[in-house]
Amino acid sequence: MFETLQAQPADKILMLMQMFREDPREQKIDLGVGVYKNADGQTPIMRAVKAAEKKVWETQDTKSYTGLAGDPAFADAMIDLILAGAVARDTIAAVATPGGTGACRQAFEAIKMARPGARVFVSDPTWPNHLSILKYLGMEVVPYRYFDGETRGVDIAGMLEDIGKAGPGDVVLLHGCCHNPTGANPNSADWDAIIASLQNSGATAMVDIAYQGFGDGLEEDAAATRKLAAALPELLIAASCSKNFGVYRERTGLLMLIAQDTGAKALNQGTLAFLNRQNYSFPPDHGARIVTAVLTDAELRADWQAELEDVRLSMLGLREELANELRRLSGSDRFGFLAQHRGMFSRLGTTPELVEKLRVDHGIYMVGDSRMNIAGLNKQTVPILAQAIIDCGI
Ligand code: LMR
Repeated sequence: MFETLQAQPADKILMLMQMFREDPREQKIDLGVGVYKNADGQTPIMRAVKAAEKKVWETQDTKSYTGLAGDPAFADAMIDLILAGAVARDTIAAVATPGGTGACRQAFEAIKMARPGARVFVSDPTWPNHLSILKYLGMEVVPYRYFDGETRGVDIAGMLEDIGKAGPGDVVLLHGCCHNPTGANPNSADWDAIIASLQNSGATAMVDIAYQGFGDGLEEDAAATRKLAAALPELLIAASCSKNFGVYRERTGLLMLIAQDTGAKALNQGTLAFLNRQNYSFPPDHGARIVTAVLTDAELRADWQAELEDVRLSMLGLREELANELRRLSGSDRFGFLAQHRGMFSRLGTTPELVEKLRVDHGIYMVGDSRMNIAGLNKQTVPILAQAIIDCGI
């Protein structure tokens, strides 16, 4: 029967990982997949995560099933981290999921269950896997303007005009912070305008928050999500622990569904648990337990925050260095946006042909839409990248 299967399009980001591995050149730079790397090119296990893992190993006395929603302590700790009391706990239904991808997938399925014809408004561009999953689920996608190709900032006027066309029963998907793939983010006034638009249109918002702590700080990066939660009657939040706890392969995420006025928490909780059961029964627990151990132990939490802050500052430093080097080489300020962007990524804003030239001529790997993982750089490679950008005529 399987001869009827058709080849599926390769994921652009994951394909690049493979190509980089297979490139025999010694001088090559990986700015592809969104994984943090330190100055030595390693993706270390965070100190607090290692310590929490030991603690879990020493104290855990069963590997029996958790509930379908995962360990409630994980949900409580994550809700506190992300929302910090912005809405009452008893309005939030939450389930653990396999990473942020799992949370997005379950969120989309919940939307489809509630409103089979819902349109999902997504930023243009957005994380390619949003589009891939929505297409796979047969859901209608409506792109909204987001990235201003001239300024490399947010086209807030275009965005507001486009999301204003969503109505009740539609969903507007937003990146809570550190927009993937552009690195361009709405400012606080922009967020107020986005909230006003949603209040006006009655569309439902969904936040994907996968990089809390990578942009302006742990609290600052959650500010928009908290505002949305407090201001809107309903909100979906898909959260990932992959990046800010560095637990990529443990598949650790949380889906929240907030229903403030409807009193529908029990129904929502049951629906999300049902979706977990249909797709994989119980969500993975190991990563969730480590994250809980970190967040609920004052010492581990402080150490995690300190290390996360070092990670954030190192990426900011690399942004500054790259922007400065490009200013020096180009004699212009046209790459200043690199220092303004936040999070792991920046969209350089060049053509796929020039991205390919960077790869072929210089061994520099970035996603075809010119998304660069800033954490893939270090002091030695910043000048190499800057020179290659200039040499390619970008
Ligand atoms: C990325 O955007 O590179 C990461 O979120 C990894 C992935 O799964 O695509």
